[in-house]
Amino acid sequence: MKFIAGNWKMNGTCDALKTMAEALVNVQTENRIILCVPFTMLGCVKPNGFAIGAQDVSAHDHGAFTGEISAGMLSAIGAQYVIVGHSERRQYHNETNEVVRSKAVTTIKAGLTPIICVGETMDEKQSGKTMEIIESGVRESVPSDITGDVIVAYEPRWAIGAGLTPTTDEITAAHTLIADTLKSMGRAGTPILYGASVKANNAAEIMSIANVDGVLVGGASLKPDDFIPIITSVK
Ligand code: PGA
Repeated sequence: MKFIAGNWKMNGTCDALKTMAEALVNVQTENRIILCVPFTMLGCVKPNGFAIGAQDVSAHDHGAFTGEISAGMLSAIGAQYVIVGHSERRQYHNETNEVVRSKAVTTIKAGLTPIICVGETMDEKQSGKTMEIIESGVRESVPSDITGDVIVAYEPRWAIGAGLTPTTDEITAAHTLIADTLKSMGRAGTPILYGASVKANNAAEIMSIANVDGVLVGGASLKPDDFIPIITSVK
């Protein structure tokens, strides 16, 4: 079983989500399908054969935080997952590992599973800091002192939406480091997803790499014709 998670980012409509939901009903798979959609679409469908998730959450439970959405609110509308610390949140909203960690904590406390993203920028890669950024990302963003499931996603930021993919060796090294780090934090067995320019033509190969438990798919998760072949490319 692999996790196949879609991240719709700020795209789509209720109608598009309904079309996707109808198409997913007919897909025979043992994989765990998750669709992370904009907040306003979370209540558009009753998930059948897939789970629904959000793309961000407030670090606070409730109160005077205009414009924010709490993990409890997400749970009430049926979301089971939340992406936290996506690179676009880190880049455009200055989210640090510390902020990401507190969002992951509130998510876990509300009974949802955070999909915690880590990954290096092109500058960090070019200055040889990839492993350091990944390890500190995991150590500082993943809560280790509370129980509750988490998922970690390795997303090399330079490869997102760019049609670029790291080499198999680079993905292997990153996922091995993440698995070892999680183990040392008492979170052995945490699913580790790979994300960045995953398409039907590279998904199976990427998911055959050790410690790759699934994928987080952006652009290719928006249309059934692109997304379903990714789901069915692995058993
Ligand atoms: P992409 O996005 O598949 O379009 O590269 C992945 C992501 O940002 O989660």
